[in-house]
Amino acid sequence: MKFGFFDDANREYVITTPRTPYPWINYLGTQGFFSLISNTAGGYSFYKDARLRRITRYRYNNVPIDMGGRYFYINDNGTIWNPGWSPVKTELDAYECRHGMGYTKITGKKNDLKVNVTFFVPQDYDGEVQQVVLTNEGSAEKSFSLFSFAEWCLWDAQDDSNNFQRNFSTGRVEVDGSVIYHKTEYRDRRNHYAFYSVNDTIDGYDTDRDSFIGLYNGFNNPEAVLANKATNSFADGWAPIASHFKKITLKPGESKTLVFILGYVEMPQDQKFEADGKTINKVKAKAMIEKYNTPEKFEAGMKELKGYWDKLLGILSVSTPDDKVDRMVNIWNQYQCMVTFNLSRSASYFESGIGRGMGFRDSNQDVLGFVHQIPDRAKERIIDIASTQFPDGGCYHQYQPLTKKGNADIGGDFSDDPLWLILSVSAYIKETGDWGILDEMVPYDNDMSVAEPLLEHLKVSFYHIVNNLGPHGLPLAMRADWNDCINLSCFSDTPGESFQTYTNPKFAAEGGYSKVAESVMVAALFTYSGPNYVAILKHLGKDDEAAKAQAEIDKMKKNIMESAWDGDWFLRAYDANGEKMGSKECEEGQIFIEPQGFAIMSDVGKEQGADLKTLAAIDERLNTKYGLVLNNPAFTKYYIQYGEISTYPGGYKENAGIFTHNNAWIICAAAYAGQGDQAFKYYSEIAPAFTEETSDIHKTEPYVYGQMIGGKDAGADIGQTGKNFGQGKNSWLTGTAAWNMVAISQYILGVQPDFDGLAINPSIPHEWDGFKATRQFRGATYNITVKNPNHVCKGVVSMEVDGKAVDGCIVPYVDGQKEYNVVVTLG
Ligand code: BGC
Ligand code: NOJ
Repeated sequence: MKFGFFDDANREYVITTPRTPYPWINYLGTQGFFSLISNTAGGYSFYKDARLRRITRYRYNNVPIDMGGRYFYINDNGTIWNPGWSPVKTELDAYECRHGMGYTKITGKKNDLKVNVTFFVPQDYDGEVQQVVLTNEGSAEKSFSLFSFAEWCLWDAQDDSNNFQRNFSTGRVEVDGSVIYHKTEYRDRRNHYAFYSVNDTIDGYDTDRDSFIGLYNGFNNPEAVLANKATNSFADGWAPIASHFKKITLKPGESKTLVFILGYVEMPQDQKFEADGKTINKVKAKAMIEKYNTPEKFEAGMKELKGYWDKLLGILSVSTPDDKVDRMVNIWNQYQCMVTFNLSRSASYFESGIGRGMGFRDSNQDVLGFVHQIPDRAKERIIDIASTQFPDGGCYHQYQPLTKKGNADIGGDFSDDPLWLILSVSAYIKETGDWGILDEMVPYDNDMSVAEPLLEHLKVSFYHIVNNLGPHGLPLAMRADWNDCINLSCFSDTPGESFQTYTNPKFAAEGGYSKVAESVMVAALFTYSGPNYVAILKHLGKDDEAAKAQAEIDKMKKNIMESAWDGDWFLRAYDANGEKMGSKECEEGQIFIEPQGFAIMSDVGKEQGADLKTLAAIDERLNTKYGLVLNNPAFTKYYIQYGEISTYPGGYKENAGIFTHNNAWIICAAAYAGQGDQAFKYYSEIAPAFTEETSDIHKTEPYVYGQMIGGKDAGADIGQTGKNFGQGKNSWLTGTAAWNMVAISQYILGVQPDFDGLAINPSIPHEWDGFKATRQFRGATYNITVKNPNHVCKGVVSMEVDGKAVDGCIVPYVDGQKEYNVVVTLG
């Protein structure tokens, strides 16, 4: 069942009922100010950091779901409704929500009054602009009231949700004409405030939540709206809000447009107040309001935003035999990559914005998805991330975006982290040809006095693996590898211990983790990412170092085949007792997805057919119609030696859920191994546009990837096998966005930036006659046509560039050439 449709021409998903199977959201903002907005206008805003600088309040996991947002209430002679249906939930005569690139338009209609609200965050602007267009579509004059509503968060979202003995007494506001200011703590230690304005006179306001809503009422029946009159309340402690009240009369056919702005302002210490030393200095707020206080200015801002997206999405566009692929590649997957770039894993409807800031591995992998769109910001991001690395190559696992400092509460010792830096830096160089990034001086642990060129960070990353091997010559698993939930050292038996940070006393003396437990996944990630480091060294003429690094990679491949090849697939790990994990010999969890793709893509055991055997095993044991499960059989009991993974009921999350991120590695690997049909099958099982028809089962947005889809074992524990099989969860902020962008564009369609230029080496479904792609790359436009006359999956038989035959599949780069016409024939 569908709940809307794709409007590709406008790059929008159009939701046609407010009762989606879960709130379907969008993100506004690209630089400093961000908002989450659901299809019923729920959500919240923050500046840079969803935890430390939260502007409006939101209550996660609420009843009913999705409570709190920016709400407009209409009181039309006693009929009370919202254009986004919620929170009053009066049945509307018409409803539509269009989520677009950085904006959301919600339209509701009731009793001949149509209200259309467009929300967006303009470029280079720290505020959310909301244009409300009210139209009387009836034949009689209409008089009604409009109330706006936003609830202020007291800045630190964590403190705001638990320190009530203090919070109930700190809230402060100022009202100046039609502008309501939130200045909590501004007098004391903060130099920022927020405001909510409207570009018209008002008939009243409220700034105190209890006066507006009523202590025993809810968002669905605020007392002021019921009474059809604001109370002009003034918050002093308790819960400050902002609500404008306006009486409006419209003749038949008449419209009225209002522009509301929810803004954020920072002031220099010496300019915080007016001369009286008390009143807040509003100069900047007024300038912000001035910038968007007319419909014309609003339109200009929207046009600028569209221009921004035209440019970003114009860098890669494809035309394939499948519309769904086109809309994923040309629009939604690229859009999601930009959102994950901005937000890492911090704030979605499943991530509270409090838990974690930016992840070391997460943000490095995100780079792979967006580097072609904004290489300069990728460079800045790479340097920020690398700056949190330790001199021995280990890394802080997370950092806060506002301070850019490593998060000491979580610490380091995640075995995979350093390797992702090699991949992100390589992707940046492949995209841009900017080798200069390697010379950037980058600190360790944010200490500039111990800065070294970025190249050295790659070296310490590479050798962090080499220097931390276990008994089989495989990398130590440490606290966890990519799979946060395989914790081979914690042996936790006490509730509340964090599986990722708890140190079992038995390993305390060894530095916190077992020196026996080894990760095959990290071994394969090493053999996959390592060759990039070697290629970089060779390019720099450091042949000796390159040979030394290559020898380590070769040795690792040998160790994998000697100790981690299970006969039909690769093992997952050795646990701290030295036992195999992910082997036929195991009772449960016999095969895991994570090591397989990287091993195949680094040709481990290829000469003995390990790649095709592994792909066959994956198809047989892990594949389902909704994607590949992470492991099989699912764990049905708690394995203290494995950790968090076995705490989830089978079929969910890392315990045999369809954890979409790692599906991409298999899609890439199948494509790499020439199995284009198999690659495309897995791609179409999980790519969101392909789930649209089954939205009632999938539940989360059909335009973006989620982290997880319920696996085939879901419900088995309770005798209801298949319950929630296919149900998506944790949408939006996932490494799946970047990796599936890589999988479809670089491995299936095969348009792959390489150190020496753009390679074109597709691995497509055999039925396809071919496809076309346009790619901006290093200052030139590549017009690419791929022909598949013999209906094969893979194999370039000829490549012509501007009419001339070229050997291989890399388009030779000619300095200064602005356009390349490339025809590739498969056969
Ligand atoms: C989740 C992981 C997540 C981690 C973050 C775990 O509980 O299952 O998916 O990466 O927490 O801290
Ligand atoms: C989500 C985390 O963000 C990511 O870093 C991790 O790799 C996966 N969960 C798997 O555990």
